[in-house]
Amino acid sequence: MKVLLIGGGGREHAIADAIARSPDAELYCLMSRKNPGIARLSSGFRIASETDVDAVREYAQQCGAEYAVVGPEAPLAAGVVDALEEEGVPTLGPRRAAARIETDKAWARTFMREAHIAGCPPHHICTTPSEIREVVESLGDVAVKPAGLTGGKGVKVMGEHLSDADEVYRYAVSLLPEHGAVVMEKRLVGEEFTVQAFCDGNTLAFSPAVQDHKRAYEGDVGPNTGGMGSYSDADHLLPFLDREEYEQACSIMRDTIDAMRERMGVPYVGILYGQFILTAEGVFVVEYNARFGDPEAMNVLPLLRTPFTDVLASCVEGRLSRLDVQFEHMATVCKYVVPKGYPESPLSDAPIEVADVNDALLFYSSVYEKEGVVYTTSSRAAAVVGIAHTIEEAEAKAERAILGIRGALYHRRDIGTPELIRRRVEHMRALRGA
Ligand code: GLY
Repeated sequence: MKVLLIGGGGREHAIADAIARSPDAELYCLMSRKNPGIARLSSGFRIASETDVDAVREYAQQCGAEYAVVGPEAPLAAGVVDALEEEGVPTLGPRRAAARIETDKAWARTFMREAHIAGCPPHHICTTPSEIREVVESLGDVAVKPAGLTGGKGVKVMGEHLSDADEVYRYAVSLLPEHGAVVMEKRLVGEEFTVQAFCDGNTLAFSPAVQDHKRAYEGDVGPNTGGMGSYSDADHLLPFLDREEYEQACSIMRDTIDAMRERMGVPYVGILYGQFILTAEGVFVVEYNARFGDPEAMNVLPLLRTPFTDVLASCVEGRLSRLDVQFEHMATVCKYVVPKGYPESPLSDAPIEVADVNDALLFYSSVYEKEGVVYTTSSRAAAVVGIAHTIEEAEAKAERAILGIRGALYHRRDIGTPELIRRRVEHMRALRGA
């Protein structure tokens, strides 16, 4: 089966690896720069903009793609899935209209509210400075979300990134020229978690829950990033999240997919990424994404026991209910190494050297290879994933692996450590007790 993958980051390296592990797959990739990990797994690749619809169409024809998978959100927003399907290439990824669940956060909240989807926090969509002023006064503590795409770095929360009502107001108003609207939501206090699912428009196949770490520095401080690392547990839950809470999140995602099909007439085919927060009042949706998470894809895809190509074909052919999608019962810890100075003043074009990552997995992300040397760009460079029976062992494997990567890089040593996990569990216990 010839599969064309669009995208060249860490998430796409994990997808490429899952495709390459499928017995009958031949992988091709279109990516904006040469990811050495994906290039090694591919029978062919093309360097081109991932949002250039004509370049994607042309390469799909040239490589004889039978199926395609779109990794990042930007090509979804550009209509790459619509174009590939017009060319007769069934594609894992929502069409542009369905991808609005991620690409237009104002639309997504309005949709959830009108469809009566559970877990939608109190919110307002503001399009003028005076509306923003009113909402800041009425909601008190708020989270401010730009309506459009920001690479995961646009959300700011009062009390964390914004110190007072004036700062909230100024930040929200500053987003209007580019985004047209901002979503202002009541600030929720709890622990965030991610649930990702394959979807054929009707049925969802859920993967293990994951917790990501957005802040750049140890102890969850510093600026927001795309995600510095993440962990998952062998029972597919999280140390602070029980089965019933995980099932609540899955049920919200099922209702969302049903509502998209029934209300919009758009079947949602692809990956649905639910970002949730567990609070003392229950589970709420922070946001949806229309693709795998980065880094969360790197936690779950290595555990996928069912061939990725079987899942892909079942999704695009609308027969996912007949496939038993299985994940290994193992814990994972993923840690990103990022350029010094990331995310504010990253050191790009610096060489990195990967000696040996021992028994961990390595996924290249925003790097490029030139004359056999791998260089950083301005974003996350590479991730290692430790897989073991416990989170603690998986964390130790990830740390050992990072010793084999050299360059002007840093990472968060605390992700997946017993100390950080204990703090998460105690945080939830304290909230529930209160
Ligand atoms: N890890 C956050 C995201 O992929 O959006």
